[in-house]
Amino acid sequence: MVFYQNITHVVVYVVEMTGEGIGFGKAILFNEHFVVYGVPAIVSAIGQYTLARVNPSSSSDIILKDNRDATPSYKEDKSEQQKDSLNRILAKMGIDRNNAEIEIELGGNLYAASGIGASAASCVAIARALSQHYGLNLTDEEINDIAYEGEKGYHGTPSGIDNTASTYGGLIWFQKNDTNVMNKIRLSTPVEIVMGNTGKVANTTAAVAGVRERREKNPEKYQKIFDRAENIAYLAKRSLEEENFREIGKLMNENHKLLQQIEVSSRELDFLVNIARESGAYGAKLTGGGLGGNMLALTPGKDLQEEVANAIEKEGFKVLKTKIGVVREGII
Ligand code: MEV
Repeated sequence: MVFYQNITHVVVYVVEMTGEGIGFGKAILFNEHFVVYGVPAIVSAIGQYTLARVNPSSSSDIILKDNRDATPSYKEDKSEQQKDSLNRILAKMGIDRNNAEIEIELGGNLYAASGIGASAASCVAIARALSQHYGLNLTDEEINDIAYEGEKGYHGTPSGIDNTASTYGGLIWFQKNDTNVMNKIRLSTPVEIVMGNTGKVANTTAAVAGVRERREKNPEKYQKIFDRAENIAYLAKRSLEEENFREIGKLMNENHKLLQQIEVSSRELDFLVNIARESGAYGAKLTGGGLGGNMLALTPGKDLQEEVANAIEKEGFKVLKTKIGVVREGII
């Protein structure tokens, strides 16, 4: 928006900056939770994204308007974490919330739910929108760092996998380390998946803390599970590079078993996994933090995707039909 004031002969242009930015949703194909401990994982951005818009405001404090469609109770359950996250983003960017005179609006076509990267997508979108609003021209790497800080509000000790997928898009091999490893895996064409929403909002911090506690109590049992998870990551990478989707499906099924063993699945997730497999999915597993949230089914081809999605919907659950390996689809 541009105003001008005619002061004697000088025309002063005051440009009221606005900013926009997006962050992708994501689906973890392999090794959520294990990734927190440095085990390699595979994640894909999905085509759906959160859009953040920064508008000038007369209020001194920052107003956050969350217009995203969401699982019932998602926004209420996450509201304290969302505040903490925004404060961390502002602190990292050196923005004083009491003098910013802006409002931040969240929208876009990503349905906010657990397991789909909604928190990371919002952090990335907000960082990008603020960067544009203040003319900072931040790089993807800087945006990713800021979003990681924001993710701490939601995850406590995030691995960084979600914000990485949300920032860069595409299919990614990710390993947490002093310097995180991030390598793109390229598919010749994006592949259909179905995500089934249990309708349960889950607390990722609590899920991660639970794994930590059980792992400390049963180090030998957990070591075996973690070793197999690492193995699966390498096998899955090769199968993805060969585009051997039958094999990838089998490995996803095995990965789900490991996630059950570390006790992050739930009755609803197992139910959705079974429906997906029975209706022809190549493989199915929980995705993200677990204990609710979303299930991921690999369903190459539109017909199979439709069949699996219909079977889940028939049981009264919400589905998302989307693709993995999408590189910046729908970016503005
Ligand atoms: C959540 O999407 C993935 C977890 O592995 C946590 C993390 O990596 O930060 C459960």
